[in-house]
Amino acid sequence: MDQSGKQKPDEQEISRRVFFAKLGIGSLGLATVGTLSFAYQYMSPNVLYEPSPIVNAGNVDEYSVNSVTMHAAEAIYVVRLPEGIFSLTMICTHLGCMTAWKPELGIIACPCHGSRFSEEGQKLAGPAPRPLPWLRTWLSDDRDVMVDRSTDVPPFQFLRI
Ligand code: FES
Repeated sequence: MDQSGKQKPDEQEISRRVFFAKLGIGSLGLATVGTLSFAYQYMSPNVLYEPSPIVNAGNVDEYSVNSVTMHAAEAIYVVRLPEGIFSLTMICTHLGCMTAWKPELGIIACPCHGSRFSEEGQKLAGPAPRPLPWLRTWLSDDRDVMVDRSTDVPPFQFLRI
């Protein structure tokens, strides 16, 4: 007791009050951080970043006439024939396996179920329901072969060199 007769709060009581005040402030801070984190995720665009479908397949002079060049990383063939240059997808139209150019046979072959295609992508044999699609192909100002893997074009649209 002090001189006025009031009971002096003991030190234990004060430290308990301070403890609960700090606990309350800490909880409030934690809830604020959680809410802001959730709000940030909610406001951020939910976008899946994919590589560009447009491929620079190198200078056109690198392709000799009567050649089929595989670009496996991009899943395309660049074919140069006397009529011109064009590109095909390497993805089989049956169940999506990766085909391969067989120079000794002069065909494109699918290892999964045996489909065969000509160098123009026309189906020769096997279960594939369609030919290999031709892809939009053009030359850049630097004479690089550009291929848009997302756009099919009707077959036999050669890019004349
Ligand atoms: S995936 Fe090519 S033949 Fe089946």
